[in-house]
Amino acid sequence: MTTPTPIKMLFENDIRRRIEEVIKVDQTDEEIIREEIKEYVVTDAIRTHYTGIFEAYREAPNKPTDGVSIWVSGFFGSGKSSFAKMLGLAVANRTVAGESAAERFAERTGDKKLQVLLKAINEKIPTHAVIFDVSTDRGIRSGNQALTEIMYGLFLQSLGYAKDLDLSELEIGLEEKGQLARFEEEYERLFKKKWATEKGKVAFALSEASRVLHSLDPDTYPMADSWVKAVKNKADITPGKLADRAGELMKRRKPGLSLMFVVDEVGQFVARDVQKMLDLQAVVQQLGVKGRGKHWVVVTSQEQLGELVSGLDDKKIELARLMDRFPLQVHLEPSDISEVTSRRVLSKNAAAQSALGKLFDEHRGRLTEHTRLTADIKLPQLTREAFIDLYPLLPYQIDLIIQVVSGLRTQGGAGKHVGGANRTIIKLAQQLLINPAVNLADGQLGDLVRLDQVYDLVEGNIGSEVRAKIAAISKELNHPLAQPVAKVICLLQYVKSVHRSAENIALVDAAMRRRFAFLEMHPDSPPVQGVLRDWLAANELPGESAELLDALNARIPHRDFAIGPSYFMRDWIYSEDGGLDEVWETDLLPLLEEHHAGEDLDVRALYGLAVLRRAIGSAQDEHE
Ligand SMILES: Nc1ncnc2c1ncn2[C@@H]1O[C@H](COP(=O)(O)OP(=O)(O)OP(=O)(O)O)[C@@H](O)[C@H]1O
Ligand SMILES: [Mg+2]
Repeated sequence: MTTPTPIKMLFENDIRRRIEEVIKVDQTDEEIIREEIKEYVVTDAIRTHYTGIFEAYREAPNKPTDGVSIWVSGFFGSGKSSFAKMLGLAVANRTVAGESAAERFAERTGDKKLQVLLKAINEKIPTHAVIFDVSTDRGIRSGNQALTEIMYGLFLQSLGYAKDLDLSELEIGLEEKGQLARFEEEYERLFKKKWATEKGKVAFALSEASRVLHSLDPDTYPMADSWVKAVKNKADITPGKLADRAGELMKRRKPGLSLMFVVDEVGQFVARDVQKMLDLQAVVQQLGVKGRGKHWVVVTSQEQLGELVSGLDDKKIELARLMDRFPLQVHLEPSDISEVTSRRVLSKNAAAQSALGKLFDEHRGRLTEHTRLTADIKLPQLTREAFIDLYPLLPYQIDLIIQVVSGLRTQGGAGKHVGGANRTIIKLAQQLLINPAVNLADGQLGDLVRLDQVYDLVEGNIGSEVRAKIAAISKELNHPLAQPVAKVICLLQYVKSVHRSAENIALVDAAMRRRFAFLEMHPDSPPVQGVLRDWLAANELPGESAELLDALNARIPHRDFAIGPSYFMRDWIYSEDGGLDEVWETDLLPLLEEHHAGEDLDVRALYGLAVLRRAIGSAQDEHE
């Protein structure tokens, strides 16, 4: 064998570069946004989604329609936020760190048609985008806010109005009468501060505004607090009014522009709450009808819209129209994120591609056979190309890990924007390589990811009780595989479609460790073959055990289950009475039992020491 290649040499990109774990749609740091666009991977499926949306968007102003909304769904970490955010940035063509977001994004797609479409949109349908996350961006008034209210607040803010409803009503009213500038001047004169910066501090701003009004118009507002007393918490917003205001205020502050709301995490927000879902339906409908193709809503959700609606027992009829409101639905699949992971983190340099291809060709049969899980779902195929792209992960592992991560996140209820490392597959793939707990980067070409290594990375999200039990295993059992197997069992509980059978566990974990060093270490071929005979001869011991071993291996149907010579290369076996019996009873038979688990087979009748001795004709010798 030539010198082994360390895994870290295989990659095209710097595997240690920073990868943002969570995509925040309302990220304001332009450098981060720029990086996100630069790192965004447009897979074929994603490209098709964008193309469909851009086509519809370009057509919309010509054919006014009331269905102009987009529902983006996908499992945890599938890229929903990224998808929706890129869409908003590109359509609105924001300037990010001095560059055109649309141009940078178009470049990333590498697709002529898409580039032309986007350019046409940017030129003909300039758009103002309001992008936010409904789970973190609640309005100022806490409590059970409706989506309409949150959307309206952020829309106002994006146009430069106060986010608070009472304050913005005041501003809008003053603006209509042409008195807003005077109000702002008076405010500055009275408080020596700028209204624009102070209006966000609602508690103060309300009374201050009241004082300004009193000072400007003492007839209407006889006292300094007349206005605030009269209006506080009176302003209200309904879906219909939001749609009216959208038209009106866009005309005032962004004349000629279309409007696109990008609202992240809507699914979570409205799920299992009929009232909120009706509100969503109404807001989308109103914006559609009144906006006449110029007001769009893009939302994200873990669940597909159909699932969300059918998850409710009653009220289905009222919600039936919701489906029609979202004519464009994008569902991100595991295959998308698998491709993104391979291209973003695991992409290989040319030398690695050929080395891995060769490795695959040499071991295709064994590899396929030993990674075939029994599952209720169709797991991705192990092809040569997928092997190269995803190595040191195998294609099915991505699907498994997606489910593990999803399971951990649903059960933990962990805050989505706080820490919780390794909450996405992309980050996890990187961590498998570089995290000191696993450190596959320093492993050798041929090593594969094991599921217990994934456990080591996500351990922090697992209940402390379970974790403590698993940690204690190594003290109680000294079988080297006991703990890894427990880790795998623990993780597989999140993967409902893959049974926690002994065979599957062996495949996703233990088996790999033993069999896929890719270095052929088989008792019937060099360098292992003959080792025992040489050792026996060198120690002046009888050759019986070598013959027994050959006979035993000849009976084992599975080549990979073959027993290695090291079991017999122990002095005590030959110096103590019944040494060989002990090896059989404590090592070999239990192991073979395990290999044949689930098969109706009498292991002792096939592999027992006495049986084998008879087979090699040494039974007599023993009695002599
Ligand atoms: N197409 C892509 N190209 C590059 N990176 C991507 C892509 N899609 C997702 N990612 C990365 O995957 C991770 C998760 O993406 P994102 O936050 O958009 O997913 P999500 O579905 O919104 O997740 P969550 O369920 O946590 O809200 C991020 O690190 C993001 O950069
Ligand atoms: Mg998200």
